[in-house]
Amino acid sequence: MENSQALVASLCVIALAFIISKIFSKKQPTRNLPPGPKPWPIIGNLNLLGSVPHESLHILSQKYGGLIQLKFGNFPVVAVSSPKMAELVLKTHDDVFASRPATAAGKYLSYNYSDMTWSPYGSYWRLTRKICNNEIFSAKKMESFDSVRVEETKMFLSRLHSVSRKPVMIKDHLSHYSLSCTSRIVMSSNKYFSSSDNSVFKLEELQNLLEESFLLHGAFNIGDWVPWLSRFDVQGYVKRMKALADKFGRFLEHVIDDHIASRAAQKDFVPKDVTDVLLGLLEDPSTNVGVKLTKNSVKGMLEDLLTGGTDTSAALVEWAVHELVKNPYIINKAKEELNRVVGRNRWAEDNDFPKLSYLEAIIAETLRLHPPGTILAPHYAMEDCNVAGYDVAKGTSVLVNIWSLGRDPNSWDEPEKFSPERFEGKEIDISGGNFALLPFGSGRRKCPGYKLGLKFTRSMLANLLHGFDWKLPDGMKPEDVCLEEQYGLIVHPKVPLALIMEPTLPTHLYI
Ligand code: HEM
Repeated sequence: MENSQALVASLCVIALAFIISKIFSKKQPTRNLPPGPKPWPIIGNLNLLGSVPHESLHILSQKYGGLIQLKFGNFPVVAVSSPKMAELVLKTHDDVFASRPATAAGKYLSYNYSDMTWSPYGSYWRLTRKICNNEIFSAKKMESFDSVRVEETKMFLSRLHSVSRKPVMIKDHLSHYSLSCTSRIVMSSNKYFSSSDNSVFKLEELQNLLEESFLLHGAFNIGDWVPWLSRFDVQGYVKRMKALADKFGRFLEHVIDDHIASRAAQKDFVPKDVTDVLLGLLEDPSTNVGVKLTKNSVKGMLEDLLTGGTDTSAALVEWAVHELVKNPYIINKAKEELNRVVGRNRWAEDNDFPKLSYLEAIIAETLRLHPPGTILAPHYAMEDCNVAGYDVAKGTSVLVNIWSLGRDPNSWDEPEKFSPERFEGKEIDISGGNFALLPFGSGRRKCPGYKLGLKFTRSMLANLLHGFDWKLPDGMKPEDVCLEEQYGLIVHPKVPLALIMEPTLPTHLYI
């Protein structure tokens, strides 16, 4: 009797346990996460990121595939390394992945996410993006920037002429050009910078602020991933971010106040740069419906445009120069095209570029092997999403490794070889339609300034080739040119190149 009671009781317990386990498993269906390495407690997989993170992720993709589940500290991260997966994330599910994760850089350097680049997806970001598309980068507005670029291109070539026949650090000249162009377009900076001692600001100082900004935006701040460590600021990055925000903020305040004063002083005011346009919108009731622009929005957007426009095209041309010096046949072929299309009595201009198809192929090939931003600014899953049968959880940061896409062996023959010929006679799509070549991203977060960036790039590279013979300093051979990378938000060659620039066009063109 006792035995049968015990049996019944045991059966009841087993049945109850079965029912509970069923209910429990219904609540938590097993997820089919993308494959990936096992995370360690506390650090997750951070130990797998080397000093060049896009290479570390590329190596992991060779083992685990195009979609990898990782954990950085406490947070889930998915790394995307194949064109097929990039298309699913940036096109098919763009509406899910178009946000950004919260970071200390977004908080401290972008006026609490008041800019466009680091602001989360939503009505505020949509407003900033609309302003960018309609008021800054529309075809008409872009045309109004042309005179500045043409003038700066002449000064760039003239500066190089003045230091010709001795070794010059080509990187410095490229940065000077892109910073001068961008800051004039954005804030008529020539008004604030001059070589005189009593100028408000020196161009080099802005350059230093931007370099610190690139470094801090690109730095791996451990507090972003292991929140309990953030209060200790072990790497000192947050302290530096606060100091930079203070310094940069004071400069931008000065520029904004000065623009407001000029506006007030003129009766029929015509905006002459992007700062004027943004300040006009600040007061425009039709812009501020639902979401409001503030002075911090203007400061954030100005900073976005200065950082976005400055280092990207300079790094791209620097990489092209390194690759071309290593491959002299490409220089000869490009010069021959320039001589044919442009002739020997003038510089290459915008009208020429559609006819310079080999130059375009060189730029595309450089963007494939050396995209200035090797990993897209992090995207962020706003909802749970199924990608190619794998579950990606809401709250996952998504890193799209475009450096890896450009080396995808299924998309590119001999992917490691620098060969502009692979693009010859073909339609080149670098603006987001070819998922094996995404130097500007794709979808909602695609770079809004890419057309301007390409204009800078073409003006610099075409005329460097057209107006100068490039010689290596004594004792250096093409094979000595280093192609190692210096990792950062923008990736430059690790060892900058000194070249002797020998003018080849009639002297009056340089002066
Ligand atoms: C060769 C030149 C350039 C390259 C390679 C480049 C590349 C990129 C990339 C990869 C992104 C991230 C896309 C994503 O998150 O999916 C981006 C975003 C952005 N770029 Fe560019 N860019 C260039 C030029 C410019 C220029 C000239 C400007 C402005 C003057 C600019 C402003 C921006 C801004 C504001 C964003 C953030 C967009 C957002 O989050 O909605 N870029 N760019």
